[in-house]
Amino acid sequence: MSNYHIKHLEEYYQVYRKSVRNPEGFWEEIAEEHFLWRKKWDNVLSWDFSKPEVKWFEGAKLNITENCIDRHLATRGDKTAILFEPNDPNDPAEHISYRQLYHRVNKFANVLKAQGIKKGDRVCIYLPMIPELAISVLACARIGAIHSVVFAGFSSTALSTRINDSDCKMVITSDGSYRGAKTIDLKGIVDEALLDCDCVASVLVAKRINSDIHMEEGRDQWLQPLLDAASDQLTAEVMDAEDPLFILYTSGSTGKPKGMVHTTGGYMVYTAYTFKNVFQYRENDVYWCTADIGWITGHSYIVYGPLANGATTVMFEGVPSYPDFGRFWEIVEKHKVNQFYTAPTAIRALAKQGTELVDKYDLSSLKTLGSVGEPINEEAWHWYNDNVGKKKAPIVDTWWQTETGGIMITPIPYATPTKPTYATLPFIGIQPALMDENGEEIKGNQVDGRLCVKFPWPSMARTIWGNHERYRDTYFSAYKDKYFTGDGALRDEVGYYRITGRVDDVIIVSGHNLGTAPIEDAINEHQAVAESAIVGFPHDVKGSALYGYVTLKDTGESRDHDNLRKEINQIITEHIGPIAKLDKIQFTQGLPKTRSGKIMRRILRKIAHKDTSNLGDTSTLLNPEVVQDIMDNAL
Ligand code: WTA
Repeated sequence: MSNYHIKHLEEYYQVYRKSVRNPEGFWEEIAEEHFLWRKKWDNVLSWDFSKPEVKWFEGAKLNITENCIDRHLATRGDKTAILFEPNDPNDPAEHISYRQLYHRVNKFANVLKAQGIKKGDRVCIYLPMIPELAISVLACARIGAIHSVVFAGFSSTALSTRINDSDCKMVITSDGSYRGAKTIDLKGIVDEALLDCDCVASVLVAKRINSDIHMEEGRDQWLQPLLDAASDQLTAEVMDAEDPLFILYTSGSTGKPKGMVHTTGGYMVYTAYTFKNVFQYRENDVYWCTADIGWITGHSYIVYGPLANGATTVMFEGVPSYPDFGRFWEIVEKHKVNQFYTAPTAIRALAKQGTELVDKYDLSSLKTLGSVGEPINEEAWHWYNDNVGKKKAPIVDTWWQTETGGIMITPIPYATPTKPTYATLPFIGIQPALMDENGEEIKGNQVDGRLCVKFPWPSMARTIWGNHERYRDTYFSAYKDKYFTGDGALRDEVGYYRITGRVDDVIIVSGHNLGTAPIEDAINEHQAVAESAIVGFPHDVKGSALYGYVTLKDTGESRDHDNLRKEINQIITEHIGPIAKLDKIQFTQGLPKTRSGKIMRRILRKIAHKDTSNLGDTSTLLNPEVVQDIMDNAL
C-alpha cells in the first residue's frame, strides 16, 4: 500500500510507527513509487552524527527538474505550474503552464551553459519575486549548477559576503524591483557588491522596472536577448543523489552567515512528501505560499515541493499592504486559492487592520492555512482561524528550519486536531527529543527542554559550505549523536510540541533570523561607538524587535543622541539590510560583564523585557553598578 497521501489520524500514527521502526524501508518505498530516477540507489541511508556524515539514496542518479517538470508534461502539460501575481493589481497575472515552464527553463539553462556555467559551479541569484527567479533556480538545477539565492532585501555588503563565501561565478539580477509603491535599485546594489568580488565573471540582468542602469562592459548582459536566441531543448544533467543542489545562507549567533548545503535526492523526496501531506494538496488546487524564494520556505514550498507534485503554485511579487491591507485577500478571491501559507508577523500586521478588509472578499476557497517562521501567538492564531479560515480551514503551524530543508513538526490538516500555539506532532520519519541541562533526554510528557532530532531525515543539510567543522560544532556537539536545533520546546500531556523560541543569540524579527553578533559588529564600526549588545524584546507585529545597548567612546564631547541613532541604523542597513534595524537604542555608561569579560545578556534581556523584579544572580558581575544605571534609563 502506498503511504504517500495520509488522510486521517489513525493512518498518521500507523505510517509514523512504520517510518520510525524501519526508516530505510519506509523511505525507499516512498522514493521508489513517487519519483523519477535515472538509476536507483545502492544504499538507502548511511549516517554517523559524530562526524557528522549523512547520505541518502547513495549511488542514485536523477535530475530534480525532470521530477518537477518533465514527468508532468504528458498529463499536466497545459496545467498552470506557476501563477505569477504582479506587484500592481492592475497588471495581469501570468499563468505559466508546465509546458511553458519546461521551455523557459531549458532556454535559461542553455544561456547559463553558453556563459560557461558547468555542473558544480555556484551561481548567485539576487532577484525579486518575478518568474525569472523560479526559472533561474530550476535552470541551475537542470545543468547541475549550485544556486545560492540571496534575498533581494539584503544590502550590498551582505550580498558580497555571500558571493565570496561560496565563490560564485555569476550573478543573476534585475534592473530593479517593485515593492508596493516603491522601486528598489537592485542592479546598483549588485554593482556595489561586486567591487569586492573577484570571483564573478558575468552578470545577467532581467528587465523589470525599465530603469536606466549602468551595464559594465564585458561583464553585464541583458537576459532577454540571450533567452530569445537560446534553444528550448536541453537534456538535463544526470546528478548523484548526494550532489549539492543549492546553498542557502542563514544567520548564526556568531560569525558570518552559514551557507547551508542541501543535496538533491533526499531533499526532493522529503519536500515533495511533506508538501503533499501538510497541505493536503489535490490535483486542481491552487496553492499559495507568501514567502520569498530568497528564504528556505520559498525554496521548498514555492518551488521544489509543489512542482514535484505537479501543483499550481502562486508567486506574489508585492507586499501585503499595497495598494491596501486587503491585497492578500483580494488575491485569494481572484485565484480561488485553496492553501494559504504565511508567517505570524504578516497575520499580526493584517489583524491590526480589523476585519473589514478580510470580510470584503470571498475566502470560501480556502481549505488549509499554514503558519511558519516563528511561534504563532494565541491571539494571532485565533484571528487567523476565525476571520480567514472562518473556523473551517485548519491551521497547520509548521516548525522547521533552513537547516532541516523541510517541515519537521506539524499537524496534518483534517487528521491532527489542532491546538493554538502548538506545532503538534512530528511529521512522518521525524524523531524529536527534548534534552535537559545535563545532556540527558527527557522522556515522558508535560516536560520542556531543548529540541533535538535523534535520527536523520532525507532533507537535512549535509554541511556548511567550506566549513564542515562549524557544521559539527553548531549542530552536533551540544548533545552526543543528536542534531541540536537551537530551539526550546515543550511537550504536552498528549505528546504535542510547542516551540518556545530560540535558546541561542539568534532573534527572529518579522520571521527573519538575525544573529546578534553581526549586528553588533556593524554598530561597532561607527567611530563613536566603544561597544554594543543587542537583545530582543516583544513587539506586537514583528514578534520580536531589536534593542541595542550602546556604549560610546569617552571623548569628553557631548553628542546628539538622536542623530547617532540614525547613523547606527544607517550602518546596520548598509552592512546587513533594513530588516536588522534597531527599534530601540539606549546609550549606556557600560555593559554588565562577568569577570571573564563576557557581556551578561541575560540581564540586558530582562531590562528590555521590562522584567526587572528578579534579575537573578548579579554577584559575579565585574561592574554591578552599571545595572542600576541601565535600568534607570531603560527605553
Ligand atoms: C523558528 C524557517 C515556532 C525557529 C522555516 C526555527 C518557528 C527558526 C516555527 C528557523 C514555528 C520556524 N513555530 N518557531 N512554526 N517555524 N520557527 O531557518 O526558531 O528561517 O529555529 O526557517 O524559526 O528559521 P528559518
